[in-house]
Amino acid sequence: MIRFIKNLLYLLSGKACVPQSVRQHELLACIIDRRSCRSFTDEEISPDAVTTVLEAGRFAPSAVNLQTWSFITFSRAEWRKTFERPIPFNGAYAIMICADIFKLKDLFPEMHDTPYVNIMLAVFNAGLAAMNMTIAAEALGLRSIFLSETGRTGLLDIDFLRDRLSLPNGVLPLTTLVLGKPSFSVPGIPPRQPWDAVVMQNRYEKTAGDRLRNWYDQMLLGFKITHPFSNLKAQLAMYRAKMAIAEKTLRKIFHDCSL
Ligand SMILES: Cc1cc2nc3c(=O)[nH]c(=O)nc-3n(C[C@H](O)[C@H](O)[C@H](O)COP(=O)(O)O)c2cc1C
Repeated sequence: MIRFIKNLLYLLSGKACVPQSVRQHELLACIIDRRSCRSFTDEEISPDAVTTVLEAGRFAPSAVNLQTWSFITFSRAEWRKTFERPIPFNGAYAIMICADIFKLKDLFPEMHDTPYVNIMLAVFNAGLAAMNMTIAAEALGLRSIFLSETGRTGLLDIDFLRDRLSLPNGVLPLTTLVLGKPSFSVPGIPPRQPWDAVVMQNRYEKTAGDRLRNWYDQMLLGFKITHPFSNLKAQLAMYRAKMAIAEKTLRKIFHDCSL
């Protein structure tokens, strides 16, 4: 019971341990206070804001400056036309972030010999671009959420998206960044793994997994509170089933060595 109460308190009040001396830093506040938003208002976001978010992505760092990404954009109307439903969570704008090696293939034919390294770097680079975009959105007073599964919006629905968006081999839709003005914000934060299971001094700490018990319990409890009629384990099982399907597609793509 005491553990339950402790976990509940942590869920409601848990915050990042950023020293007070730097807490006022504006950019830092954007990074630390960013939360995924799952409810947006009907308000549109300005073209300037959209351009700025996309530019933040375009100016992200990348290995060898190869910029192995593409961003496919959708207004509300465009999304509806493409997917026959609204942007999830009533988002105002959506950006599908793709790892992209397709457009480099003629410029760098030597890359054909290293498909696994290519894709690892491309995914990492696109992740950096994605993070730049979500922080830029925060800085502009918007909120956002990345989607991989909700509404068939990311890597887990790779076959569907390849078909719907005419993606060639070499372009992997990783996630959709949904943007908008928040209609309300949920208190607390999704629990983070404890510091001593994440930050390791000088060498890898193989017992890190033993320190995750409270975090796992907090995840279960948090899910129960936010989804009273659902169940995290069932949700994870569904997610795993989709992962298994996506795995088959990815193996085929890798096997074809087209990346
Ligand atoms: C690549 C990626 C995919 C995600 N996919 C989904 C999704 O499909 N549906 C959803 O509700 N949240 C999704 N999320 C949001 C995560 O659940 C969220 O980032 C995590 O719980 C931490 O919460 P926070 O972003 O508020 O800090 C995704 C996040 C990332 C980075």
